Amino acid sequence: MRIQLPIVSVNNDSHHGGRAALTCRFRCGDACFHEVPNTTTNPYVGDVIADALSRRTVMRAAAVVTAATAVGASATVAAPKASAAEPAAATAATSTRHASRGARGLRFEPVAPNTADTVTIPDGYAQNVVIRWGEPILRGAPAFDPENQTAESQSKQFGYNNDFLALLPLPGERHRQVLVANHEYTDEVLMFRGYDAANPTKQQVEVAWAAHGLSAVVVEEDRRSGKLTPVPRHPLNRRVTATSEFKVTGPAAGSDLLKTSADPTGTKVLGTLNNCSGGVTPWGTTLHGEENFNQYFANATRATDKRYGLGTGATERKWERFDKRFDVAQEPNEPHRFGFVVELDPYDPTAKPRKRTALGRFKHEGATVRLTDDGRPVVYSGDDERFDYFYKFIGSKRMKKGSSRAVREHNLSLLDEGTLYVAKLTGDSPAIEIDGSGKLPADGEFDGSGEWIPLATATAKGAVSHVEGMTADEVFVFTRLAGDKVGATKMDRPEDIEPNPHTGKVYVALTNNSNRGVGANAKADEANPRNANKHGQILELTERWNRADSKKFAWTLFLVAGDPGDPATYFAGFPKDDVSPISCPDNVAFDSYGNLWISTDGNALGNHDGLFGVATRGDRRGELKQFLTMPNGAETCGPVIQDRRVLVAVQHPGEIDGATAEKPLSAWPDGAGKINRPAVVAVWRKDGCDIGV
Ligand code: FEO
Ligand code: CA
Ligand code: CA
Ligand code: CA
Repeated sequence: MRIQLPIVSVNNDSHHGGRAALTCRFRCGDACFHEVPNTTTNPYVGDVIADALSRRTVMRAAAVVTAATAVGASATVAAPKASAAEPAAATAATSTRHASRGARGLRFEPVAPNTADTVTIPDGYAQNVVIRWGEPILRGAPAFDPENQTAESQSKQFGYNNDFLALLPLPGERHRQVLVANHEYTDEVLMFRGYDAANPTKQQVEVAWAAHGLSAVVVEEDRRSGKLTPVPRHPLNRRVTATSEFKVTGPAAGSDLLKTSADPTGTKVLGTLNNCSGGVTPWGTTLHGEENFNQYFANATRATDKRYGLGTGATERKWERFDKRFDVAQEPNEPHRFGFVVELDPYDPTAKPRKRTALGRFKHEGATVRLTDDGRPVVYSGDDERFDYFYKFIGSKRMKKGSSRAVREHNLSLLDEGTLYVAKLTGDSPAIEIDGSGKLPADGEFDGSGEWIPLATATAKGAVSHVEGMTADEVFVFTRLAGDKVGATKMDRPEDIEPNPHTGKVYVALTNNSNRGVGANAKADEANPRNANKHGQILELTERWNRADSKKFAWTLFLVAGDPGDPATYFAGFPKDDVSPISCPDNVAFDSYGNLWISTDGNALGNHDGLFGVATRGDRRGELKQFLTMPNGAETCGPVIQDRRVLVAVQHPGEIDGATAEKPLSAWPDGAGKINRPAVVAVWRKDGCDIGV
């Protein structure tokens, strides 16, 4: 018998994506309240259909689908575990047995949508808080004292607002792994008692700088209880902050566009900002996307700044009063040094982190890497802004195996040479059938074909632009403008993008776009089929990403999110009375069975954010089940799905309009009246078995 999942009452507020105003203010600098930065008139999918869809195009698209499907099914990556394979056509008996159990890896009682001020997990599972904001991780770090935080103490403690998480192996140390976390942004009103937003103190600003950035911290598993706990003062523990030195690499390193009075070489940047999601490379480093960096820079007036959403006045946090590099009027090139993907070597705490300019400059949600069959890196990255684009980089150098210093140095140069592409999508249904309501077109799917348009190529000898009227430097630094010029497809806020290691299909989370079809903004198209899109969708690409010459793809919408009772939702064709409601997909991850796990940011259905798992193939494809929910005001981030453990970042707990450090509106994690501390949570099965089997 199938479980009927409860749907909690719809309580839409007027806020974008269901987030608190406080979140918008501190997280992305009120991005949704500003004008859409993309005012170009690029063709969108509907126009492409109307203007250009010929019989030949349709036939070409069909050929791409056929070829790519064949590759996706057979020749992409290592075969999945034998036990994971779900037969495409199950027998009736199997189907009945699975009906109450779900796909392997997803056999848990789904958590009901709720607004409880806690991390709610399925029956039979246990959890612990692994590490909180302010916990000491480096030698000499004092215990957390919210009344007396200093930059010095914060720079040795776990940072604020954990987002992306990675768990890396630690050979030679039993039951230990290296946890790497992004600290996306600070919530000053929740961090400091008596915070005066008009007059932040130097000490508060410097603590905020030290609370941004990245952490690496070794964690240890208690095999009896399942708990994961930090190992303070481990030699691999590390903090990177808004003032740590980075090396700029790749085609734009040393460009005039990156030179400042403090760095006339254009190769040394202090800090990383607004690191949202990320990825782990096959050569054992981590990537971190610099996202809403615009909000930290004051007094910007140039068109190139406007395209990135920089403001003309003072900033929310007033950092420009304490370091002139945040004042664009004084240091015009400083913002050009943010908005990159940064690479960290968590195994070498002395190595400078690097900003990889070959991956382009935009509001990177994250970056995920796979290797082509001949060993070159392929990196996907979304630009999280309404009506912005998503990108792919194909490296030209091959990864080497081994652990010598020379091999490591070689692999640390892989993201500096290659070609950056932007996606252009074409729908296969007539434009008239895409009415903006989310109603499926007559062919039963939102689907079509796409191409990767080259923007620029970086080589050891120099870089070449493929965009008329732009130099290679300009393409890598003003990448959004390059996308505009080549007519890339305007999407509903591209977030995480990640290929499924089992099937080769690539998933693109599109979180929402309340402005789609509103006013003069682009209207719904087949890939972004709902106007005033509150709930978002997940795009599935079928392409030969394992080949370095792959420039075409087929696409379909895998999920159109929302309340399954809403006819404008779609769960890959799975019966909708048997799935959990979901809103605003953001981060994605895969388990070892090839199921897609999705964390959400904002819930326009009135419930708290959560983590969901969904089968991507077999007879359960599209069966979405909620695994956990967040406390008041929190966003679910950074899911890591291991066989025996799920790790999530509880970001901005208590970030609710009206909340302050004195008056928290969440009791998480330390109880009522205590300051809210963003933290990492581990979940495991009480009986010690694998998750969801
Ligand atoms: Fe920081 Fe796109 O979420
Ligand atoms: Ca976030
Ligand atoms: Ca279609
Ligand atoms: Ca995110």
